[in-house]
Amino acid sequence: MPLLKRNRFLLLASAAAGVVVAASVAVIGTAEAASTLGASAAQSGRYFGAAIAAGRLGDATYTGILNREFNSVTPENEMKWDATEPSQGRFTYTNGDRILNQGISMGAKVRGHALLWYQQEPGWAQSMSGTALRNAMMNHVTQVATHYKGKIYAWDVVNEAFADGGSGARRDSNLQRTGNDWIEAAFRAARAADPAAKLCYNDYNTDGVNAKSTGIYNMVRDFKSRGVPIDCVGFQSHLGTGIPGDYQANLQRFADLGVDVQITELDVAQGGNQANIYASVTRACLAVSRCTGITVWGIRDSDSWRTGENPLLFDNSGNKKAAYTSVLNALNAGGTTSPSPSSPSPSAPSPSASTSPQPGGACSASVSLNSWNGGFVATIKVTAGSAPVNGWTVSLSLPSGSAVTSTWSATNSGTTGNVTFRNVSYNGQLAAGGVTEFGFQGTGTGPTATPACSAA
Ligand code: G3I
Repeated sequence: MPLLKRNRFLLLASAAAGVVVAASVAVIGTAEAASTLGASAAQSGRYFGAAIAAGRLGDATYTGILNREFNSVTPENEMKWDATEPSQGRFTYTNGDRILNQGISMGAKVRGHALLWYQQEPGWAQSMSGTALRNAMMNHVTQVATHYKGKIYAWDVVNEAFADGGSGARRDSNLQRTGNDWIEAAFRAARAADPAAKLCYNDYNTDGVNAKSTGIYNMVRDFKSRGVPIDCVGFQSHLGTGIPGDYQANLQRFADLGVDVQITELDVAQGGNQANIYASVTRACLAVSRCTGITVWGIRDSDSWRTGENPLLFDNSGNKKAAYTSVLNALNAGGTTSPSPSSPSPSAPSPSASTSPQPGGACSASVSLNSWNGGFVATIKVTAGSAPVNGWTVSLSLPSGSAVTSTWSATNSGTTGNVTFRNVSYNGQLAAGGVTEFGFQGTGTGPTATPACSAA
């Protein structure tokens, strides 16, 4: 986030003073009080995590704190697009796997960050647009989520897609220019690839009720109403010297939409209020039953991206700061709520009340291809006929020597010759004339004939 954007929080310092209480009053009976952040968060069924860097795992002070204090980890950079797919179709997971394995060795949750973000796109993707970029983006989501399938607690599927300022609109980017449905397409592909992971939208400057957070709120509400699979919203919470007075109310309004909320990148500028602001954020999460955990964006001040602002819980030498104590005390004081069950609840499609899909409706399919020497991505559009459809299959013929290597938003029978694709749970039901898409990547050359579609 640009520094200018963060500075607006300075204006909120006085508001913060009204919503915090002294950390020293928050300690409860020492018999129950846990002595680390992770253990104290676990008392209410939550996690307390840190963003970590693979390059620092050889630092004994760093890993000592990490192993002792945290029960969740997020890769600061290692699972981003530029790190995992530095050239198109060549995936590198070495550093991402180091973070994953560190998390596994700690028995910690691993938050995946981030499948798609307009920043840290690899150079090859930065220069792409349109269908080629859409296909590359879908393939990226599918490949990375598949590599980490079953191991990620929650994925930031899309990061920072909304504009700052008062518009509440999407941010312009080459991803956005592929079509406004790029976010829901990404969520659907992520769900198909890793049904067990919670799927989150993540953003900054969303720490109170404002135009940007309301734009995101409206998107989440729309997704929930249409059965687009979304489970959680991340509030980065890169804070200055204040916190909006409606911080907790903002978390609650999202939770009331039926998604979990998580504090995903917390750091707070060092200043008179740092410890109190950290405590306020912690208490706000504890007070919202669907707030499942808090992640700080780094361990020691010297590990932070905010050079010179000393925004974290440990000083450069690894000593606990006052902010650490205030968070621990707030966690040990407990909250009024426990988080709801943590398994993701794949959003079932919500068929409209007025259309009840009948068996036997017809459908049609068309294919668009993005090909290169030796490979291709096929995007298949499935369109229901004049009656609603409750399940569909699409069959096509691949040229000799071609093979399917991965599929999203459908399951395939066979990989060569005649291949049949069947709908997945969320895209089988189509209203009369309704449309859905799935895709697959293959080696060789793509199908040339129009695919056959049959409805259940
Ligand atoms: O690893 C290279 C190194 O080899 C090279 O010599 C050096 C030269 O600049 O760059 C190093 O990479 C840097 C990388 O951090 C690792 O330190 C990149 O330049 C730098 O751009 C990158 O910054 C990261 C930033 O995202 C990128 O926008 C920060 O570490 C990371 O904390 C920050 O995290 C973001 C979240 O993902 C999303 N929300 C905002 C947050 C803060 O900006």
